[in-house]
Amino acid sequence: SLTDYDEIWLFGYGSLIYKVDFPFIEKVSASIKGWQRRLWQGSHDHRGTPDNPGRVATLIPAGKATCVGIAFRVTHEVFDHLDHREKNGYLRHEVDIFFNGSSLVKKGLVYIASQDNKAFLGHLHDKELAEHIHRSSGPSGENRDYVFQLADALRAMNVVDEHVFAIEQQLKNM
Ligand code: BEZ
Repeated sequence: SLTDYDEIWLFGYGSLIYKVDFPFIEKVSASIKGWQRRLWQGSHDHRGTPDNPGRVATLIPAGKATCVGIAFRVTHEVFDHLDHREKNGYLRHEVDIFFNGSSLVKKGLVYIASQDNKAFLGHLHDKELAEHIHRSSGPSGENRDYVFQLADALRAMNVVDEHVFAIEQQLKNM
């Protein structure tokens, strides 16, 4: 498997974009194809509680859409740390990572919480999703601050994510 190699590319699309609490060798803008970011994963350990799970990002299969994020070149020890940090339904998947601004493609790993994990909450309309996020918080803080930090980090990378920005706007209007 890829984790048998000394160095591995890790694709981050959610809190890994703004909360980099692991060592990395290199960090660059990158994309993966066929996936889109959605705030549809329940969080009972970070931005919510078991009784009132918050909502955090996962990736949903999406035909020809692409998801822009960050590729980190890391050592395999980093996965031990992240497997613990991201235990709530996320599993590692092997993906082709496209390095933005070049034609390079490399195999890497991404954490995805799929629709069959027990914490998956799925689609809600923007307003309901924002209301849910507005009233959720957990050990890592307010659920709305997760959305604000993610949206700010995406803007800083010049990424337009209509879903995240729409939920952010709803939250700012509350
Ligand atoms: C990410 O940013 O890639 C990520 C963050 C938390 C869980 C899974 C993935």
